[in-house]
Amino acid sequence: MSEPRSGAPVVLESVTKRYVLGDGSALVAARDVSFEVTAGESVALTGTSGSGKSTLLHLIGAVDAPNSGTIRVADVTVSDLRGRAAADYRSTIGFVFQQYFLLPSLTLVDNVCAPLMGRQRVRDLRGKAMALLDSVGLAGRAHALPSELSGGQQQRVAIARALIGEPSLLLADEPTGNLDSATAEDIMGLLDRLQLDLSLTMVIATHDVHLAAWCDRRLSVSDGRVRKPPTDERSQSRRPARAHSGVVGA
Ligand SMILES: Nc1ncnc2c1ncn2[C@@H]1O[C@H](COP(=O)(O)OP(=O)(O)O)[C@@H](O)[C@H]1O
Ligand SMILES: [Mg+2]
Repeated sequence: MSEPRSGAPVVLESVTKRYVLGDGSALVAARDVSFEVTAGESVALTGTSGSGKSTLLHLIGAVDAPNSGTIRVADVTVSDLRGRAAADYRSTIGFVFQQYFLLPSLTLVDNVCAPLMGRQRVRDLRGKAMALLDSVGLAGRAHALPSELSGGQQQRVAIARALIGEPSLLLADEPTGNLDSATAEDIMGLLDRLQLDLSLTMVIATHDVHLAAWCDRRLSVSDGRVRKPPTDERSQSRRPARAHSGVVGA
């Protein structure tokens, strides 16, 4: 059995990200953003298209670096990482994208193994991948190709792939954006269950406030700024009280 895990806390302090556009002008995609996500918490970043949600996930995931400010994930100062160090950090967190990004010529089990191929013994890796496919409801489909699956099933595989490295932080960028509403609910339910079972910290970008209600907390992103939520924000959650404290660090 694997060790009990606990999610990684995430802290952003005065984070600013500017993009220089083709005409030389600057676009500020994150403006002096500060917020915290506690270990084992799920937070939805909500806001319209272009508000800066993906930028924040890219910064937390060290896909991009901020111009100023500090980002810490557990004991790692992510905002200082560059090159190889950033790549090593990225391999410790899970990413889920709107477009799934499965490799079409690989079977499902090989897609799940892909991030760690060459880094772990193949037998161990495949055993872990089979267990993950089981946990996302795809036991028995391990040797199918992605093209044989529905969109919702492909996203389940992508979620299993995101978990193969046993991350303590899962970042999901519009994970239900390509799915019909019933399938989107299924996927959010799956993410919610896995997050609780694995004590993951989870940050989800979504423009869908209905899906955001699955998370413990919502932060509204607008024009690169994160609005501090009203104090009664938690009451908007549709999820039953899950007593994180009983699972994480108890
Ligand atoms: N690599 C980039 N170069 C230039 N501008 C970018 C880049 N990435 C994002 N932007 C701009 O930053 C703003 C925020 O984008 P994004 O974070 O993708 O928003 P969201 O995910 O909320 O739709 C948008 O105006 C977008 O056009
Ligand atoms: Mg986006």
